[in-house]
Amino acid sequence: MPEQTHARYEEVFAEVEAPFAFVDLDAMWANAAAMLGRAAGKPVRVASKSVRCRALLAAILGRDEGFAGLMTFTLPETLWLAERGFEDLLLAYPTADMGALGELALRSVANPEGAPIVMVDCAEHLDAIESVLGAGAAPVRVCIDVDAGWWALGGRLKVGPKRSPVHSVEDAVALAREIERRPQIQLVALMAYEGQIAGVGDRPPGRRLRGAAIRWMQRRSAAELVERRAAIAAAVGEVAELEIVNGGGTGSLELTGAEEAVTEVTAGSGFYAPALFDHYSRFRLTPAAGFALPIVRKPSAGVATALGGGYLASGGGDPSRLPAPWLPQGLRLDPEEGAGEVQTPLLGAAARELSVGDRVYMRHAKAGELCERFDSLHLIENGQIVEQVPTYRGDGKSFL
Ligand SMILES: Cc1ncc(COP(=O)(O)O)c(C=O)c1O
Repeated sequence: MPEQTHARYEEVFAEVEAPFAFVDLDAMWANAAAMLGRAAGKPVRVASKSVRCRALLAAILGRDEGFAGLMTFTLPETLWLAERGFEDLLLAYPTADMGALGELALRSVANPEGAPIVMVDCAEHLDAIESVLGAGAAPVRVCIDVDAGWWALGGRLKVGPKRSPVHSVEDAVALAREIERRPQIQLVALMAYEGQIAGVGDRPPGRRLRGAAIRWMQRRSAAELVERRAAIAAAVGEVAELEIVNGGGTGSLELTGAEEAVTEVTAGSGFYAPALFDHYSRFRLTPAAGFALPIVRKPSAGVATALGGGYLASGGGDPSRLPAPWLPQGLRLDPEEGAGEVQTPLLGAAARELSVGDRVYMRHAKAGELCERFDSLHLIENGQIVEQVPTYRGDGKSFL
């Protein structure tokens, strides 16, 4: 793989005006291959929220048959992708968008087996779906979202994303039966996403004790989940025929993929390998997405100030959500200003060497959110720009 240096990127992007965003395909395909290896033969569903670029989603799905289907994030997005020829779509988050549900119902009539599958975790979600279905409608296919969190201290400590209320085998079977009572809704899938394992790096920099605590929690949680996910899949499988049992994310592919009850895993962030994914002990990815900012002023010899750059990532508002200075090496953010709306001062040894008109390369903390800041991505391969493709934003779409 070509080296990732400031000099090399400056050569490649010599004709492109900063700010701009890019994806290094050599790195992305190395990450893709590494993730397929970690999934060890389980199909990998691609999380669209972490890519947010139609051209790259299509390229990934076309790259290897190990990548199968998309995990989407809103129903309007799902319908938009379906219209553009994407198939095998699993919407991972529940919707209350009645207009879009109406459209889904029409799509389900036209293509009952191929229409997107939507997520449910309570009777209200089922009511919403039923309310848009006419008498002659084809069944809408649904997936139960099972809480994959880890409960300790008799349930007083709950670790994991606060999503579905469906946690136990009994909860899942009760919802499955509720679905079976409704002839226009068809249960075809289960999903259980263990965010506390897949989405939390277990080697946080400079925090050894916290890292040890995270690794301890993740071992416990994985051991509990392997049993519970299997028990839920078996019990719900008695109520309805399941086509899909989905789990995992970039951070847990080798763990989730090894579970017998799981039919497929999900990955998205690992393609771009944003900064938050630098801190896992189980795998190493290559940074594949970045953005370039121009240096526009030098407040003093040791500070180089870039235009813009305040692209903070969602989540708990701690410094790990800030973008990371990448190239040249030896830059850091100013603790007072961080990354700003109109300017980002950069400190560190490398800042002394930077002049007005130079450019710096940064990485987002998360994956897909970068695409909400730029209309297009410059794709590079083998030391040259091969294409410029629209992001979702460039397609005029900002779903979330
Ligand atoms: C339901 C679900 N599955 C899988 C993932 C993993 O995505 P990624 O590989 O981008 O971390 C996520 C991320 O939040 C998710 O919400």
